[in-house]
Amino acid sequence: MSGMIAPSILSADFGKLYEEIDMINQSEADWFHVDVMDGVFVPNISFGFPVMKPLQAKAQKTLDVHLMIVDPDRYTKAFADAGAHVLTVHVEACTHLHRTLTNIRNHGMKAGVAINPHTPVETIKEVLDLCDVVCLMSVNPGFGGQSFIENTYNKIKSLKAMIQAAGTNTLIEIDGGVSLSNAKLLTDAGADVLVAGNTVFASPNPTQTIAELKQLIK
Ligand code: DX5
Ligand code: ZN
Repeated sequence: MSGMIAPSILSADFGKLYEEIDMINQSEADWFHVDVMDGVFVPNISFGFPVMKPLQAKAQKTLDVHLMIVDPDRYTKAFADAGAHVLTVHVEACTHLHRTLTNIRNHGMKAGVAINPHTPVETIKEVLDLCDVVCLMSVNPGFGGQSFIENTYNKIKSLKAMIQAAGTNTLIEIDGGVSLSNAKLLTDAGADVLVAGNTVFASPNPTQTIAELKQLIK
């Protein structure tokens, strides 16, 4: 399977959201990555359901929702109703992760777990069979446009080994600081999905940048 690209709409121009959604629809991108921040789990507030609405109406690709919020169970049903296909919670924000992931699947969504740069991948070993996606944060969550943390490569390798040992179909997603220079290295190391915010939306031609990223990880 070739690698997937998930442009992060956090870096989009919200003054022309429909155009940005259409650009992703027409591009070679695979998923929409949707960053929801509550100003408590992370030091920033992004957006919530008012932005899910146009996405649900117009996006023609998988909606990959990344919740950077405390107590995410409160909103599982609401995000299912809002059209999320993948719902990712942070291991650091869940006291009862097994229950949370089961609940996400019971609402018809793929279950994802994100782990912060300081969190060892072993933390999720016992729930790997409930993880459709593991999102390795390659920056400290909260903002787009930060520099990639190099230790992520070691974490990809450890996680890949864990997935192979467990025999699950879990996808490895990398979130933060993905660029044209590290995309191939990341997929070579074992990543399946690369989130790209700044690299796509700050480029002069986002559609072409998505195509270039796809070409690199074929
Ligand atoms: C960071 C978010 C990321 C962010 C990535 O907290 O989870 O998805 O949008 O942006 P870039 O690709 O610019 O690092
Ligand atoms: Zn994200």
